[in-house]
Amino acid sequence: MTKLNVHRQAQVNQDDLFLQDIFAGWSAEGQKTLPCKYFYDELGSQLFDKICQTPEYYHTRTELAILAGALPEVARRVGAQADILEFGSGAGIKIRKLIDALTTPRTYIPIDISEEILLASSTRLNQQYPDLAVFPVVADYLSPIQLPEQFSHQPDHKKLVFFPGSTISNFEPKAAIHFMKHIRSLLAVGDALLIGVDLVKPAERILAAYNDAQGVTAAFNMNLLKRIQSSYQTDLKLENFYHQAIYNVERSRIEMHLISKVQQEINLEGQRFCFAEQESIHTENSYKYSIESFQLLARNAGFDCTACYTDVDKLFSVHYLTAS
Ligand code: AVI
Repeated sequence: MTKLNVHRQAQVNQDDLFLQDIFAGWSAEGQKTLPCKYFYDELGSQLFDKICQTPEYYHTRTELAILAGALPEVARRVGAQADILEFGSGAGIKIRKLIDALTTPRTYIPIDISEEILLASSTRLNQQYPDLAVFPVVADYLSPIQLPEQFSHQPDHKKLVFFPGSTISNFEPKAAIHFMKHIRSLLAVGDALLIGVDLVKPAERILAAYNDAQGVTAAFNMNLLKRIQSSYQTDLKLENFYHQAIYNVERSRIEMHLISKVQQEINLEGQRFCFAEQESIHTENSYKYSIESFQLLARNAGFDCTACYTDVDKLFSVHYLTAS
């Protein structure tokens, strides 16, 4: 087993960034907002794992089943000795399925902002797959990243970017194209992107997934306020807010909100913010694509849509896209 070679991107203090983003999102005229990337502190990441296990959240188990069927073909397309890059690798459960399916993959570069989770999963992979070179990168993948040189172009090794879980759904469509163009810029013609995308379906099914009966999604959303409470000087009261998830049919997206139960003022690090009764803080969008609308987006970003895998109920899709 080789020693892990960890790359750390020079990072701005996350607490400072969060406070700046709260101030910006609560001072704007009109709709108040909080960016969804702040969901994933330690408790938020645990709650997200719990969401994935609720009976209503079909995404994770459906994607795993699709991958189980698709990976032998993906492995044939990718060939031997591939270099894999994963954005937002988290606990690293799905990547094992990919590594097991591929023929002697050469390099694995997981990128995640949570150093603890990234190092724990990279160490396990390093022990379990001695022939695979693991190069964890601690970074916010939404910011420009300097990738390890192992991911630079080498003619005999295909590069495969893995972006499962439909995280692309949490980008605004324009930002999704922008991000996929960025992925394309890391690849040579013929390299590939394997990406999970949630599909449009009847509203009740989608709504249930974001309003689960056990209230795990509600706790996940409310955890943003808990994070504010525990990070800063504030008189914010959790009991003055509740979770709401609505389906915006025209824009084909789930919207998560935190709704103020009462008219209130919140003091936060010396600034005062006013909330009307029933005023919302918009915390997340989760876009639902048709196979065609996602393929259009992929083509705009410079990919050929080589293969698309779905489940029988067409709940979720996994796309194998080739850099064109
Ligand atoms: C990570 N992402 C794809 C999830 C989603 O479904 O948009 C985040 C999530 N939000 C609420 N439940 C799950």
